[in-house]
Amino acid sequence: MHNKSFSEIVESLKSQGYKTSLVEIERYGDFCPEDVDWNDKDVPHLNIVHTKVEGIQTVISEKIMNSIYFQKLPYLGFKIPLIVNSYEYAKFNNIYYTTYGPFILVINSISELVSKNKTKNIVTIAIASKSFFKIFHPLIKKLLIKNNNLLMREDFPMRERRGVLRKNNHSFFSKSKTYSYSNSTDIYRANIFLEKGSDLPISINKEELINADNEQILGNKVGIYSFFINIDNYKNKKLWPTTCVHEGAPLNKNCIEKDLLLCPWHKRKNLPLIQIDSSNKIHIFKHVDYAIKEDENFIKIKYRNNPNYYDEKTHTFLEY
Ligand code: FES
Ligand SMILES: [Fe+2]
Repeated sequence: MHNKSFSEIVESLKSQGYKTSLVEIERYGDFCPEDVDWNDKDVPHLNIVHTKVEGIQTVISEKIMNSIYFQKLPYLGFKIPLIVNSYEYAKFNNIYYTTYGPFILVINSISELVSKNKTKNIVTIAIASKSFFKIFHPLIKKLLIKNNNLLMREDFPMRERRGVLRKNNHSFFSKSKTYSYSNSTDIYRANIFLEKGSDLPISINKEELINADNEQILGNKVGIYSFFINIDNYKNKKLWPTTCVHEGAPLNKNCIEKDLLLCPWHKRKNLPLIQIDSSNKIHIFKHVDYAIKEDENFIKIKYRNNPNYYDEKTHTFLEY
């Protein structure tokens, strides 16, 4: 079976009598092509992170996804339904297409590493229509650029966050060479891991923990061994992770709802690691991803650091 490339689709449309116009948007960012590929194929963030579009994903397989999107139109303000097909044509080369009245839109996102942790992403959009509808192409072009800028305002921080974590010795697991739409829906995997050499457990001084202020960071500055303190209404101090172990989202006190921390990217529910009550009694929570041990002066924290673990059927708490 042969999937069509972007240029093959455009040529096929031309042979059907369609007139086409191309728009090219080039962007650079401090992250890897893998991060764009992940973000392009990440199913659950669409309805959570994006404010101008929501969708019903009808077919989600490894490299193909079909969806019904409801897209808010720039300038006009109302939402229109769009049937969108998305697929991976080649490594770091993803294609989407849809129709909008008499217009066909074909979008191609290609990413390439230009230097360490720096990526060029080119989004090319073909607008195709027949006869006099071509006169509307400049207007559609304007709408598409505006829409793409709005989408990227929400996607770029996700990509850049992963770039920051990569700079701090973190990597991200993918079951296959490139990301898959279907794997992105399993939000209870811990896909982030520390590179060899920086994966040792860390210790936090108990005195420091007990005397920590609200929002104080403990452990490392960045990443899965970085934690923050939140003091609740009952004066209980809780230690929370600053990084979601699923795909690396930044976590802070604004993500806390009741006694849970809701990840801003995919709404995974996270538990605190430790609670210290008003009489300084330490309570340690059990986790699948973290193991915590208390000795006389220190709290020791170990991260599982093994994304393959989640391929096993049942998950158990990590023991120190
Ligand atoms: S990054 Fe996916 S749920 Fe947090
Ligand atoms: Fe997105």
